[in-house]
Amino acid sequence: MKHSISTLNGEFGLKIEEVTRKDLCDDGFKAEAYDLWMKHGGLLAVRGSDLANVLPEELLAWSEVFGVVEQKTQTGREDKIVPGFPILRIGNVKGKNGKPSAQFAIVPQLKDDTDIRYNPKTRRPVWHTDSTFREKPPIGSVFHCKIAPPAGGATLFSDMRTAYERLDTEKQQDLASLEAVCSLAHHDKKINAYSPEYPVLTPEQRAENPPNRVPLVLKHPLTGEVAVYGLNSSTCAIVPIGQQIKQSDLDHWDLEGVEDKSVLILRDLLPYLTGPEFSVKWEWQPGDIVAWDNRSTIHAATGFDYKNNKREMWRLTLNEDNPSMAATI
Ligand SMILES: [Fe+2]
Repeated sequence: MKHSISTLNGEFGLKIEEVTRKDLCDDGFKAEAYDLWMKHGGLLAVRGSDLANVLPEELLAWSEVFGVVEQKTQTGREDKIVPGFPILRIGNVKGKNGKPSAQFAIVPQLKDDTDIRYNPKTRRPVWHTDSTFREKPPIGSVFHCKIAPPAGGATLFSDMRTAYERLDTEKQQDLASLEAVCSLAHHDKKINAYSPEYPVLTPEQRAENPPNRVPLVLKHPLTGEVAVYGLNSSTCAIVPIGQQIKQSDLDHWDLEGVEDKSVLILRDLLPYLTGPEFSVKWEWQPGDIVAWDNRSTIHAATGFDYKNNKREMWRLTLNEDNPSMAATI
């Protein structure tokens, strides 16, 4: 590969620079990028001035290297989508009609790099794995920067394989015996508690979305590497694998948005999991495209000066591995 390549933290994460739109369509480049993504813990960034002009169809084709792209648009977000593509806009940009054209959430800015590490008092940054409440949680995401603020708005990533590997054997065994109970109703009620306009599930929707259970130690199906897994805003309890939960407990977690204290098993570990030896702060430049694997990384958003600056990101979700690429691992 003729590009300049560097890792982001130890062996975790890879940045390829001087990448062009032509490279993104090149089969050799795609195969090499996929291989590097797998070898470096599921975090790969490509950067190059030409990429600021990437077309939606080019971004979609590049994303398909890493997995099968989710096609369906979440209800109510139709005006936040790049028209005709399964690409969600995220940020504080507005359309010609003056209405927000991107999904927007206020997130605190980092004061300095010590804020990257999870703070149990503030419970920030909100480090997580995406959508563990789904029966088949997405394997990853692709994120592309269209407009970057002059400061802030970085995305944080942390390496869950190395963090697991460096735990003592006893702790590894403890975690491996547990699973996380992840409930969409709990997730929505928790957000509703501080943002009352956020809807909660109706009883029917709740019945259609029973909790999903995921292991706290996940073995990557392609690389065989193991990683700490399972923290999402939907994580309402941590239990021994297979243990029954009482309906009254689930009602409490779902309807009141209260986490069981067993979730502290993960939260107490989070300052360690997000320390400088495992984490990466990715500061966006227009054109950057980052692919991450949810099975070996966790991530968190950070804020910027929303009043004075603009940020626009494009996001695609990967629901499963690309079978032809996966066959090469
Ligand atoms: Fe996320």
